[in-house]
Amino acid sequence: MNPKIKKIISKKNKSKIVCLTSYSKSIAKILDKYCDLILVGDSMANVLYGHENTHKMNLDIIIQHTISVKKGIKNSLLVVDMPKDSYNSPNQAFKNAKLIMQKTKCDAVKIEDFRNNFKIIELLVKKKIPVMGHIGYTPQFKKKFKIEGQSLKETKFLLEKAKLIERAGAFSIVMECIASNAAKQITDKIGIPTIGIGSSLNCDGQILVTDDMLGLSGFYPKFVKKYTNLNKIIEKAVKKYTRDVKLKNYPTTKNSFR
Ligand code: KIV
Repeated sequence: MNPKIKKIISKKNKSKIVCLTSYSKSIAKILDKYCDLILVGDSMANVLYGHENTHKMNLDIIIQHTISVKKGIKNSLLVVDMPKDSYNSPNQAFKNAKLIMQKTKCDAVKIEDFRNNFKIIELLVKKKIPVMGHIGYTPQFKKKFKIEGQSLKETKFLLEKAKLIERAGAFSIVMECIASNAAKQITDKIGIPTIGIGSSLNCDGQILVTDDMLGLSGFYPKFVKKYTNLNKIIEKAVKKYTRDVKLKNYPTTKNSFR
């Protein structure tokens, strides 16, 4: 087993697993100092490319960004989202996951739960491609945002799914927007780490979209904690630059060549 994956699994019930997303080398280089896992998420479609949802992400784009991210990583586990429609069948999933692994040298792929696609996980794992599952709110397949696991029936359903994903061989599961009691039950009852986003403290680790927690994306649902406001910081810098250019304060001789 990949030692980085082994390390992530070994943290269950011991210490929290720190995860964030990255779409470029420069951000990855910073995250790598602190994160156990870096995800090249298809949230890039909204955050970077300005689409309404993640559906327009494709293999070429995610591969190119992962090649960039990989250059900034030494220690963290690198996981790549498989884009929507790149894993409609086990054979298609294998072909595309293999392409992602070969071209990017990432450590694992993530696939969202849809119509019990456990067979896909099973095949990829059998072919030595590590897989991270994703349950709860799965933006590739759900039109309407909703917190899941708020009733006993839903909790049972999610727990069943998590167990099947574990049984299929996934090394970890992202749990997106799952009510805290349900998150606790799932985390307690499966042997692989759960990584929460909007799913309370009752998960083995946490992930956020980096642009959200940096205050850059403009998308701040309740579960996002803004650790800084890059939007403001960048605007201040651009304003200063504009003023300098207009007032001929930039460039000075210090910034020019003789
Ligand atoms: O695409 C993404 O960034 C994700 C995280 C929100 C988990 O799937």
